[in-house]
Amino acid sequence: MTRHPELLRWVEQVRELCQPSRVYWCDGSEAEYQAVCDRMIADGTAIRLNPELRPNSLLVRSDPADVARVEGSTFVCPSDPEDAGPNNNWAEPEAMRARLRELFSGAMAGRTLYVIPFSMGPVGSPIAHIGVELTDSPYVVANMHTMTRVGEAVLDALGADGEFVPCLHSVGHPLREGAADAPWPCDPDNRHIVHFPEQREIWSYGSGYGGNALLGKKCLALRIASTIARDRGWLAEHMLILKLTSPEGEVQYIAGAFPSACGKTNLAMLRSPLPGWRVETVGDDIAWMQFGADGRLYAINPEAGFFGVAPGTSEASNPNAMATLRRDTIFTNVALTPEGDVWWEGMTDTPPAEATDWQGRPWTPASGTPAAHPNARFTAPIHQCPAAAPEWSDPGGVPIDAIIFGGRRAETIPLVQEARDWAHGVFLGSVMGSEKTAAAAGEVGALRRDPMAMLPFCGYNMADYFAHWLRLGEAAGRRLPGIYHVNWFRKDAQGRFIWPGFAENARVLKWIFQRNRGEVDAVDSPIGRLPHTGDIDLSGLELDAATLAELLEVDSTGWRREIARIREHYAQFGQRLPARLREELERLERAL
Ligand code: GTP
Ligand code: SPV
Ligand code: MN
Repeated sequence: MTRHPELLRWVEQVRELCQPSRVYWCDGSEAEYQAVCDRMIADGTAIRLNPELRPNSLLVRSDPADVARVEGSTFVCPSDPEDAGPNNNWAEPEAMRARLRELFSGAMAGRTLYVIPFSMGPVGSPIAHIGVELTDSPYVVANMHTMTRVGEAVLDALGADGEFVPCLHSVGHPLREGAADAPWPCDPDNRHIVHFPEQREIWSYGSGYGGNALLGKKCLALRIASTIARDRGWLAEHMLILKLTSPEGEVQYIAGAFPSACGKTNLAMLRSPLPGWRVETVGDDIAWMQFGADGRLYAINPEAGFFGVAPGTSEASNPNAMATLRRDTIFTNVALTPEGDVWWEGMTDTPPAEATDWQGRPWTPASGTPAAHPNARFTAPIHQCPAAAPEWSDPGGVPIDAIIFGGRRAETIPLVQEARDWAHGVFLGSVMGSEKTAAAAGEVGALRRDPMAMLPFCGYNMADYFAHWLRLGEAAGRRLPGIYHVNWFRKDAQGRFIWPGFAENARVLKWIFQRNRGEVDAVDSPIGRLPHTGDIDLSGLELDAATLAELLEVDSTGWRREIARIREHYAQFGQRLPARLREELERLERAL
């Protein structure tokens, strides 16, 4: 139990407001995990998978109206709307609080209020932060067990007066006396995912899915943490962290920001086809980074599990993920096979002859609809990943040698380019574009600017965020990581990917590694430094030199179109945009 008066007072206030039938304090134990899983099965929320095929694992089907993050219903509410910026939905904080009190009033009737004390990062790490999520969803409790560190150790670390981020969540579906529950209770018409960055509070109502509901992840570890990081001189980023070891045993750590469903999990876990080169996983979604006394940038993964995209994951594309999912996994919105196992598009070359789709309907390959939802996800602990780096939970973090930005771009953007310096790297991150994916509700495929993959996650005005990045690079005595930009997603006229991607991305990582060590030269170009085609190791790969040259060419026409779009993107920030970035844009235009 806690001795923290403020925490006790808050739980009591929420109990009065939400009217749950009971309050339960989570201890993070295995028995507790089993109990909430049993609860979900009894409620019809979850199905136990065949224990011989998939031990200790569940299939959960969400409401078809609640399948992804909802950016249109996500708000950031500082007192001054300018602080939220054009990248966030803002509402006047007091009006929003009044609306939330209305929504939460009696919202947990007939349900259990679970109190989940959790740590983002190893408990006691100087970079870690504590949150407490109050939720009426057993699904959230089970997922938070895997995704974060939950339990008594966190309350101990919090003591009587430690700092925590209050995270209030309700699915928004009170149970009236005697009424039957829905298998996936939610209130999709009234969803509100709200952040008060000045008070460091999160209120989330109406959704049970992913980043809308697992409040440690995007809400705390990105939107709230990014504002803490701005104030305290560090970085909270939507980045994977990987460890790359060369055949000589030299190690580099690389962080990479790609938008949602654009390849972070896959890159973080890849099995290198290049003899002697090895990738190990430190994190697949979020990095918290601070400069150490030695001037290097140290990163921790604040999470303890993966909430990964299922479709496209296979023994061929990501064998380490497949091994991670062998057991102890929660699958959400995938298909169920007649044997009681899971399936999704891309998992095997031949689909099962019959299955039950993510909505519980009979499915065959002739159905013409996907068996799994495109944003179907798995929740599994990092320690089950055969490629997990031993230092993945090191409280001090790992020193970052390179930062990679990248989006999903069918044309123009080359396979890899290197920034001339930190400010140019910040420029490349600030203009990142990507085609929209199913990770958020809305039209898939439309090109949008997603600077540093943080558009949906930066908890303050992005112009200030760019300035913060620039400032961090200006302090004296720092050994700044090199900054790179990649694109695995170039397509040919037939719409096929030109670059094989996945494990073959190791070839680009090798070039980055060698550039960091000054072992290979690069070619200066208007858009940044590009590899000599001979320096990308293509051994064992059937890719002709002409194709590689195409992947690395400077497409001047495409870039001029790009510049027009960048100018529009920058215009929304007005005078707040750092002058340095506008200068970089002008320099690019002149060079082209
Ligand atoms: P979030 O968890 O939403 O933040 O996504 P993520 O960035 O971790 O993306 P993930 O690695 O899960 O990949 C998303 C989708 O892109 C999956 O369907 C992958 O199969 C596919 N993908 C990943 N890497 C590559 C690649 O190198 N090439 C191609 N063509 N597809 C890829
Ligand atoms: C993303 O959308 O970037 C995710 C999934 O990692 S969610 O946790 O739902 O935000
Ligand atoms: Mn993500």
